[in-house]
Amino acid sequence: MFWTRRHFLKSASAVTFATAFSQFGRPAIAEDGFLEISAGPSRQKLYRNDGMASDLWTYNGTSPGPEIRVRRGEPIRVRFTNNLQEPSSIHWHGVRIANPMDGVAGLTQKAVAPGETFEYDFVAPDAGTFWYHAHNKSWNQVGRGLYGPLIVEDDEAFFDQVHDLTLVIDDWQLGEGGVLDNASFGGLMEWAHGGRMGNWITVNGEPLPAFELNKGEPYRLRLINAANARIFALDPNKFGARILAYDGQSLGRAETLTYEPFLLGPAQRADLLVIPEDGFALEDVSGDRPFAFATFQVRGNGNIQDDPKLPKPNPIPEPDLENARRIKLDMTGGAMGDLSNIIYQGKKQNGDDFQRTGQVWAFNGIANLAENPMFSSKAGETIIVEISNNTRWPHAMHVHGHHFRVISRSASEIDAGKPWRDTALIGPEQTIEIAFVVDNRGKWLFHCHMLEHAAAGMTTCFEVS
Ligand code: C2O
Ligand code: CU
Repeated sequence: MFWTRRHFLKSASAVTFATAFSQFGRPAIAEDGFLEISAGPSRQKLYRNDGMASDLWTYNGTSPGPEIRVRRGEPIRVRFTNNLQEPSSIHWHGVRIANPMDGVAGLTQKAVAPGETFEYDFVAPDAGTFWYHAHNKSWNQVGRGLYGPLIVEDDEAFFDQVHDLTLVIDDWQLGEGGVLDNASFGGLMEWAHGGRMGNWITVNGEPLPAFELNKGEPYRLRLINAANARIFALDPNKFGARILAYDGQSLGRAETLTYEPFLLGPAQRADLLVIPEDGFALEDVSGDRPFAFATFQVRGNGNIQDDPKLPKPNPIPEPDLENARRIKLDMTGGAMGDLSNIIYQGKKQNGDDFQRTGQVWAFNGIANLAENPMFSSKAGETIIVEISNNTRWPHAMHVHGHHFRVISRSASEIDAGKPWRDTALIGPEQTIEIAFVVDNRGKWLFHCHMLEHAAAGMTTCFEVS
């Protein structure tokens, strides 16, 4: 699975200290106020800073792409130019956005052809940590590096630039020479299992970056999981971190986790409050031993400060559970699962079909219902979706254009407080209920954010009129 820890330690010696300022480029702003963002091929070192470069697809030449940072209520205007050899589009993940700007190729817009441009122009209603990524063949385009952070600041800035760090985490499959393995994309085996797992973790495009923090000062760490399929298991209690926000939505308090480990699924975000006394590492604790992917050194001898003023929750309409309409979504398929009843394009799939179409997962028995809404509803209605995972694999269900509350989860307490989410993990054989007011008109995608699963059948949509 992962490369050994020794590999990491070796690479660590080549690491330079990063600060909040140097992490991300700023996109160029054109005279008409649009940010210029272009997708295209470029080369980047993933394995070691003194190693060989990989061929990636990036926004403005780096992966992650530039950090887009605005104040809540300010317009976000992006002129997207596609310099790839294939069509693409940009989705603004987690933003409760106007439907034509949602960036889903084939649903909310035509894919942007090579050489063409598309202008995105929208306002983000919520402050918080979001991200943007390609939304055409995402398993391939996101997997090769097409994503970046989108930060919407609160009306009051609570953490200055030095104390507000964005950490975009990715999981790459490196091969010979520590170079991205092109053959790692598109394998049916991985599509039918847990998605494309890598063997190398980067944070902000770097292996094991080291950050310097001032002792005793409060920091906001914005974690974004940009991996195709990997769920990171973290242990924030170990370094005294508390949760400020999930999926961009502030809790309005700093919450100490009562369970461990803390899972950060694909596309999920978590904002942590850290007031460091000592150095620490961000580690994935899902394996036999902890696996560090970013380190934090502490300098100075300042006193430990109190909590700062914390970001307030965004106003989101509360679901009316009494009068809700219930929808059932049963997930089936995948390796070691029931493959006997998967219908794709009107035809029940058999062994040969799976090889040909790759459609090995289904929602309510149907693979890839991308254009036919699973349900239609009127704006203002509360919907409860009961999602039953009848597969042997975890999934990360993402609703476009809305946040939802996870109101129940079988055999687990982790959603105490019923947090707002835009992407919810659901374990094998688990059932969860999510509730939300559909208040945003249009056709919205609803899919697993394990990007191979989305492409292999776990995609549907719903319509709000
Ligand atoms: Cu972040 Cu439809 O995706
Ligand atoms: Cu999935």
